[in-house]
Amino acid sequence: MATKIPESSDILRVERIGVHSHIRGLGLNEKLEAREEAQGMVGQKSARRAAGIFVKMVQAGRHAGRAVLLAGPPGTGKTALALAMAQTLGPDVPFTSLVASEVFSLEMSKTEALMQAFRKSIGVRIREEVELIRGEVVEIQIDRPASGVGPKVGKITMKTTDMETIYDLGSKMIDSLAREKISAGDIISIDKSTGKITKLGRSYARARDFSVSGTAGPKYMACPDGELQTRETVVHSVNLHEIDVINSRTQGFLALFSGDTGEIKPEVREQINQRVGDWRDEGKAEVVPGVLFIDEVHMLDVECFSFLNRALESELAPVVVMATNRGVTHVRGAEEGAVLSAHGIPPDLLERLVIILMQPHSEAELRAVLALRADEEEVDMTPAALDALTRIAADTGSLRYAAQLISTASFAARRRAAVGPVDVQDVERAYALFSDRSRSVSYLQQTGGAGFL
Ligand SMILES: Nc1ncnc2c1ncn2[C@@H]1O[C@H](COP(=O)(O)OP(=O)(O)OP(=O)(O)O)[C@@H](O)[C@H]1O
Ligand SMILES: [Mg+2]
Repeated sequence: MATKIPESSDILRVERIGVHSHIRGLGLNEKLEAREEAQGMVGQKSARRAAGIFVKMVQAGRHAGRAVLLAGPPGTGKTALALAMAQTLGPDVPFTSLVASEVFSLEMSKTEALMQAFRKSIGVRIREEVELIRGEVVEIQIDRPASGVGPKVGKITMKTTDMETIYDLGSKMIDSLAREKISAGDIISIDKSTGKITKLGRSYARARDFSVSGTAGPKYMACPDGELQTRETVVHSVNLHEIDVINSRTQGFLALFSGDTGEIKPEVREQINQRVGDWRDEGKAEVVPGVLFIDEVHMLDVECFSFLNRALESELAPVVVMATNRGVTHVRGAEEGAVLSAHGIPPDLLERLVIILMQPHSEAELRAVLALRADEEEVDMTPAALDALTRIAADTGSLRYAAQLISTASFAARRRAAVGPVDVQDVERAYALFSDRSRSVSYLQQTGGAGFL
């Protein structure tokens, strides 16, 4: 990009690029085999293939209550793989993610936090028949009462390619039309029972008077044909947690916006399970078990793990994907002298998981990931600079550290007023400025931590 942006906002922009923004999918072919590098994923072929098969089973809806563990050393791409799975699942399957330590920091008990995450991961598609008026707005005419007070009244003329009708408007409808900024040439639908107005787009016939605001323009579409009044089945996609909150009398649906949902009573949840079950039996609703991703799962404690054990067995359970970089270690919260456990997960939970093992990256893979990251951050690097960065990743054992040096090196290059790409000297400068974990640890060991508190 050749556009000049002021330097400070440039830095902000770079910081806003998430560390996984290059991940767009699992990069598998139709046979679910991993390509060497595709959709932002590099290497880890068997893990990606396993994840792809897992996703297929989730989509088939026959995997609820199962759990998979992504296990591997730091930086091998566990979080990246989980996000790639989310993208492969598609928009119809709910995906919720949380970092295990979050459950300790919320203003609710840790098991309630987990329960809410579980229920956010179960989608409910509710089908509803609605009567709609759908067409292109020809004219809106609003009559102000002569006295200046009293309710507004008006008329709206709507058409399809086959017919045109005039409808009377009450003051509520007039307000909603104004709120939705509806004008002649818009294609809208009006829900007859609720009066809800939805702007679908703008008629092609009006395509010349495009907006000058510079924002994305309206969506142009053809004027609908047939009857103005139609019956349609609309599908509302919600999740169980949303239904819980709306129905919990003390919270109300406004809590959904503030995020301050507090704890929800078990009775409310039971009622809702019952009602959703009824809807399902009557064919009004479909339950879609989604995916709950718990990153750094070793941060959970024994109580949380036993909750997970139980919750996975309930009738309405999502698929749970967990990730950890721990080897053999203590389970948090276990009593003194408790036995060590693989991945910091109690054996009885471990027993019911399938495990996807992540392999350490080869140097070529490290280089490929770093190249993707440089691309993503729009930083141009010489091949030698990329080699230097790859060596840093391999030597420090931290791909993440090396990736973080990209933006620092690019900053250093600009400071020396370089016009060309980032070079080795800039990478070296960034490496000198910012210490990685192992250097910091060895500094503390050498100095005995003198001067630190
Ligand atoms: N195979 C891969 N393909 C593409 N990008 C990857 C791959 N592996 C890692 N990355 C990228 O490298 C960085 C570190 O990876 P990630 O955070 O996924 O590691 P992790 O296994 O979750 O590590 P940790 O155990 O420390 O949480 C991220 O920016 C990630 O997107
Ligand atoms: Mg991670």
